[in-house]
Amino acid sequence: MPAQGVAEAAAGTVNLADLDLYEHGDPDAVWARLRERSPVYRNPGTGVAAFWALTRYADAVAVYRDATTFSSERGMVLGADTGAGDPAAGRMLVSTDPPRHTKLRKIVNRAFTPRTMGKLEHTVRDTVGHLLGRAISAGGCEFVDDVAARLPVAIICDLLGVPRADQDWMYHLTSTAFGGGDPASATEVTAEDRLEAYGEIFDYYRELADRRRRDPGEDLVSILARGEIDGDRLDVEEVLLNCTNLIIGGNETTRHAAAGGLLACMTNEGAWRRLRDDPATVPTAVEEILRWTTPGIHVLRTATTDTELGGQRIRAGEKVVVFNAAANRDPAVFDAPQTFDIDRTPNKHITFGQGGHFCLGSALARIELTVLFEELTRRVRQVQPAGPVRRVRSCVLRGIRTLPVRLVP
Ligand code: HEM
Repeated sequence: MPAQGVAEAAAGTVNLADLDLYEHGDPDAVWARLRERSPVYRNPGTGVAAFWALTRYADAVAVYRDATTFSSERGMVLGADTGAGDPAAGRMLVSTDPPRHTKLRKIVNRAFTPRTMGKLEHTVRDTVGHLLGRAISAGGCEFVDDVAARLPVAIICDLLGVPRADQDWMYHLTSTAFGGGDPASATEVTAEDRLEAYGEIFDYYRELADRRRRDPGEDLVSILARGEIDGDRLDVEEVLLNCTNLIIGGNETTRHAAAGGLLACMTNEGAWRRLRDDPATVPTAVEEILRWTTPGIHVLRTATTDTELGGQRIRAGEKVVVFNAAANRDPAVFDAPQTFDIDRTPNKHITFGQGGHFCLGSALARIELTVLFEELTRRVRQVQPAGPVRRVRSCVLRGIRTLPVRLVP
């Protein structure tokens, strides 16, 4: 029997915004069918407004590179577009078009200097050592909550200048506000919980930004709090929105790459053994983990003018959704795209996007994953499954919610 959605994809009726597809179905098989038959596919409006879905690499790159025709200012992921416009438009980096985007990016980029990345690498190694040490002495862990989710939060908190003492608290708040729920919690997160957590995060950064204005450091909050565009200081909302951009952009994405990467290595004996025997393979393995997991499933753009893509006429105002995860398995660009190959070179995945909005945290994410897999393969001989693996129910983030493992040192 074909996987869920494949027959519908062939018939041109599949709904790519259906969350069941991502939790229980086989989205790769659906995208493969669309890529062949309908690479610029008109997804019906069900729950979210109708949109054009792109599954070919070349079309994805064409949209990423043309910020004039395809705007980021009217919602950046499916479901976030309320029809009333994006409140972050023109204020949060990822939801801003040029020319303001270029100026804002210059400011945020000051927090990502090679010097800062060098310092953060030490923090990453310390944090990974601590998390893995604890998990190994316990004989195993729930890898998502105990390791994969903790690392990015600790690093982003450092980047933002959040004191160590507040980091655990911030971890629970961000998981509640932005995540698929706090993985440590058995209960589902309600809309009120999310709003409340979001409010607390906002209040916290408002207070931190006030302090940093008076007594600046080298952290991102200080940089933003003193940032100016065309002689005007960024207002407090802009500071907060851009802190939020980093929290959302760098947290769950890195978490899912780490957990999905471990799962791929666990289910592929040869890959794990090779990584253990030859640590020099870690950098290419990290690129393959990024391609294979593609945690940011899609990005959304809105056409600013009538245009054409893959023979389809797109009208001004229509939504265009670039499926990164589909483009990363396009056989026109990747040999044997359904094979997890830690030696794959070249590996021109678009996991971090392309063009003007190319992920600002890509170097940091690569450091986190490289150190994690170096330390894992150095300290652990074997990783064995220790319970059911649950996938995330989302068409925005692709990942694993629980990954219980036994760690054999
Ligand atoms: C942008 C993915 C890690 C901060 C993006 C974009 C993608 C992406 C696809 C482009 C969005 C668009 O074009 O609309 C990822 C993935 C990550 C990751 C898969 C981990 C594996 C991080 C980290 C940070 C970060 C660690 C920061 C600490 C950002 C920011 C932007 C961005 C600030 C906006 C850049 C701009 O609009 O100019 N990311 N990201 N990301 N990411 Fe990441």
